[in-house]
Amino acid sequence: MTVAIPELRKRFGRAAGSYQLAANLQAEIAEWLLCLLPDDLRPDAAILDVGCGTGVLTRLVRERFPRARMTAIDCSEEMIRAAARQSGNVQEIRWIVGDMRDHVFDEQFDLIVSSSALHWMEPLKSLFQSLAKATRPGGLLVASMMTERTLLELHRLRRELFPENVPARRLPSVAVALGAIETSGFALERHESVLMEQRYSSAHELLKKLNKLGVTGGSISSGGRPLSRAQLKILSNEYERRHSIANGVVASYEALYFVARRQDFVARRQGD
Ligand SMILES: C[S@@+](CC[C@H](N)C(=O)[O-])C[C@H]1O[C@@H](n2cnc3c(N)ncnc32)[C@H](O)[C@@H]1O
Repeated sequence: MTVAIPELRKRFGRAAGSYQLAANLQAEIAEWLLCLLPDDLRPDAAILDVGCGTGVLTRLVRERFPRARMTAIDCSEEMIRAAARQSGNVQEIRWIVGDMRDHVFDEQFDLIVSSSALHWMEPLKSLFQSLAKATRPGGLLVASMMTERTLLELHRLRRELFPENVPARRLPSVAVALGAIETSGFALERHESVLMEQRYSSAHELLKKLNKLGVTGGSISSGGRPLSRAQLKILSNEYERRHSIANGVVASYEALYFVARRQDFVARRQGD
C-alpha cells in the first residue's frame, strides 16, 4: 500500500526533532551498510543518499569517500533541515527536498545508498525503476530496508486483540522486494535478510520510541481509527505478558541488505 506524500511529510516532519535520539537501531543498520560499499569507487564519484532523514548515512558515506560529490534527498523539509544542520551546513553536500518516486535528477549517480527508508516508498516496482533511472549504467545501489517481519509481535497482537481495527499497511516481504529490484533494471549481486531483536524497558517505552521515529499513526499503524487510550493499555499489558525478558520486552526487526548493479537496459514502466 502506497503512503501518500503529505502523510509522509507530516509524520517525518513531526519526528525530525526526536528521530536521531530514538534511532539507535537505524544508526547501527547504517553502519553495517558501510561493509557493503565498493572499494573501487572513483574518488570524485557522484553519490546519492535516498530518504536521508537526519543524515546519519550521508555523513558516514561522506567520511568514507571524502572527495565524492554527495547529494541527499528526503521528502520532509524538516528532516533535510535537521540533516544539513547536523552535518555542519557544509556546502559540499547537496540537499534536496523531494519524492524519490518522481524526482528528476540533473545527473546520474555512480552509487546510490539508502538505509531504513525504501520500505516507505511503495509501490516498490516504480521506486526501483526511478532508482535505476538515477543510476548510471554499471553503477551500484547499496541499501537496507525493513521487511515484513519487522515488529511482528506487535502486529500479531494487534490483529488478535482488535481484529476490526487492523493496520491498513504491511511491509513488503523479502521475496517481493527482491522481485521488484530484479525486474527494474538492476542485477542483484548480494543480498541478506537479518532478523534482529531489540530490547526495551517496557511495552510503553517501545510504543513511545516508535512514535518518536514517526512510525505510529496514519495508515501504517492504525486501522480506520486510532486505538483508544484504553485499547493501548490493553495492548501494552498483553505485550508485556507475552514478550517479556529480563528487565524489559523484546521486539523483532527484519532488515534486507542488498547490493544491485544497474544494467544497461532499464525496464520501462508499464504504460510509458
Ligand atoms: C526511517 S527514516 C530513515 C532515515 C535515515 N536513512 C536513517 O537511516 O536514519 C525514513 C526517511 O525516508 C523519508 N522518505 C519516505 N518516503 C520518501 C520518499 N518517497 N522520497 C524521499 N524520502 C522519503 C522520510 O521522510 C524519512 O526521513
